[in-house]
Amino acid sequence: MAAMNKDTFLRDLLNRMTVKEKLGQLNLLTGAMDATGMKDSGDLEAKIRDGHCGAVLNVYTPAATRALQEAALTAPLRIPLLFGYDVIHGHRTIFPIPLGLACSWNLKLLERCARAAAAESAADGLHWVYSPMVDISHDPRWGRVAEGAGEDPWLGSLIAAALVRGYQGNDLSDPAAVIACVKHFALYGAPSGGRDYHTVDMSRREMEETYFPPYRAAIDAGARTVMTAFNVIDGIPASANRGLLTDLLRDAWGFNGWIVTDYTAVSEMKNHGTAATDADAARQSLAAGVDMDMVSEAFLTELPELVKSGQVSEESINTAVMRILQTKWDLGLFQDPYARCDEARAQAVHLNPEMRALAREAARESIVLLKNDDLTLPLAKHGTIALIGPLAESHRDMLGCWIAAGDPAETASPLDGLREALGNTGRVISAKGCEIHSPNDELRDEAVRAAALADVVILVLGESADMYGEAASRTDIRLPKAQRRLAKRILQTGKPVVLVTMGGRPLELSKEARDFPTIIHAWALGTEGGRALADVIFGDAAPVGKLTMGFPRSIGQVPMTYREKPTGRPFDAAMHYSSKYLDCPNDALFPFGHGLTYGELELGELQVDPQEVPPGGTVTVSVKITNPGPREVTDTIQLYLRDLVASVSRPVKELSGFERVTLAAGESRVVSFRITDADLSFPGEDFKPVVEPGDFEAMAGTSSVDLKGVRFRRLGDAE
Ligand code: BGC
Repeated sequence: MAAMNKDTFLRDLLNRMTVKEKLGQLNLLTGAMDATGMKDSGDLEAKIRDGHCGAVLNVYTPAATRALQEAALTAPLRIPLLFGYDVIHGHRTIFPIPLGLACSWNLKLLERCARAAAAESAADGLHWVYSPMVDISHDPRWGRVAEGAGEDPWLGSLIAAALVRGYQGNDLSDPAAVIACVKHFALYGAPSGGRDYHTVDMSRREMEETYFPPYRAAIDAGARTVMTAFNVIDGIPASANRGLLTDLLRDAWGFNGWIVTDYTAVSEMKNHGTAATDADAARQSLAAGVDMDMVSEAFLTELPELVKSGQVSEESINTAVMRILQTKWDLGLFQDPYARCDEARAQAVHLNPEMRALAREAARESIVLLKNDDLTLPLAKHGTIALIGPLAESHRDMLGCWIAAGDPAETASPLDGLREALGNTGRVISAKGCEIHSPNDELRDEAVRAAALADVVILVLGESADMYGEAASRTDIRLPKAQRRLAKRILQTGKPVVLVTMGGRPLELSKEARDFPTIIHAWALGTEGGRALADVIFGDAAPVGKLTMGFPRSIGQVPMTYREKPTGRPFDAAMHYSSKYLDCPNDALFPFGHGLTYGELELGELQVDPQEVPPGGTVTVSVKITNPGPREVTDTIQLYLRDLVASVSRPVKELSGFERVTLAAGESRVVSFRITDADLSFPGEDFKPVVEPGDFEAMAGTSSVDLKGVRFRRLGDAE
């Protein structure tokens, strides 16, 4: 078989398939090991035996996938099944939620995590992960910001590409590789009011400048599949949007893999009011460019009649089938359908020491130190610590949303991590203080007593895992009231308090930022989260995380981004008729790129060379950085650009480069960024990429605010 020519084999197979068998290949059904949508697939095994199912989601483990694969191989054509699953931030070993891991700004680390997730999922019988989720979002009300890389399209694109490379590797037939699925195409991160599944209404400019780049980067990195979004765009559901799926994705961007809908998105067109029947919806979807129907079963049940009546051509079905069969071939499924069903490999790979070490490294790098005014952190490893809060002992919430085959019992909670780190050099007393959403007098009193006995309090507050992710939008993104009350009571004890916030989105922490000198944002850090948190709290690792999505001062500011346009009346606190709020500053409380560490680097003035650059030339922007402190410091120097005058209004700043540097005590170094036309280009009036001559400002710093700037000029052709 291996020696057989792929095209001949697949053509021959296609020729032997009935319409129903072809549609079976386009039919993705769900098993019952997880529930990720409302509809189930009934008698899955019977459908598989009949050849009416080409791929399955929500089934994993070597034994379970082998059993279904055996069923598939009893169908007349013996076409192997492909197994997919929502491996979003790890499979058995869980890494930080994607928004947290993005804060590492460490592309190699992200790629390694994706590689590890691929190895673990492939060892569990899987071929296909529903990741990366690359939807840009400016709206922390939307619970799914947890699954993406944040607000910035440039960084989001680099991360998207790194994840695709990590999942797919160089050879899909490697039994440790899986195919990636870029989602959700398109614009799912901008639902009206931040409410999940809601209407998207967006200008073409915003699409081109902000939302499309990460999808495109993932396609350019070779992603094999794309998942449609649930939302409508200009009134057309994404899953029936020919302009998006065919004209843009395939024709303009050159995508040649297959497109799967999101869960039951085909039949949901009846709810959108754009299809009267499943048949109508299936026809529209296929015509728009969809290849595979997730769980609706409308392709399977409705398209045969439409083929018979001539409303749908069999050729369009053949095209979709071939896309899927080709990938099955590339994955080695026709050679050995059981290659990924190997119990011994699963045992060896899952949660092995290297996986755990990587998870701990990833978790450390995702932690963001928001404030450390009194330099309370790092803490010394002695004395008595009161660990207080409803998340202090939680294993489940440390894993976050979408935990695939992650197991809370295998996870280190904050308490586990602190106890382990302290050993017998100190003591931890733990007290819950309140429930996530409700106060409890007894728990509160116990927490106050614990604080009274302690030298320092670590207060772990925030969102439980069910408060973010899919269908988990919130209009109030403060800490729940019961937790705010607990915080107030603990502060009244007068003990030094380190506030650790957890959760899946930027929170509104204005009050906490006033009340607490020290705040760590710890997302949901995954399997090794508690240990990583202890590493940072005690200074065994310095925090390096930088926010990839700003934390608003007030929910009234959202949606918001640091990459905003200047407006005709830029912010001026003293000017009534300027673009501002009467009751809140414009900027974020903790902005994009923000994240402190132990120690601080000093930046010198920026140097630019040359000051005038010809078309096609390179400008180098350099900055001398110094570590004036007594210990080594690692920080990320960020470069932002602004096009001062262009044919279309350009953002006030845009991330365009970054470099993580480590400086020994007293060390100085020059960091340089090379800027080429590619960095200066933007979608022009006609949306085609353009570089316009004129003045630019380059800005550098350790976050998106407090930047040093320098100007340079990009010359025109005739200059
Ligand atoms: C989600 C997708 C997910 C799919 C399969 C949907 O509800 O929107 O992100 O991949 O379910 O579980």
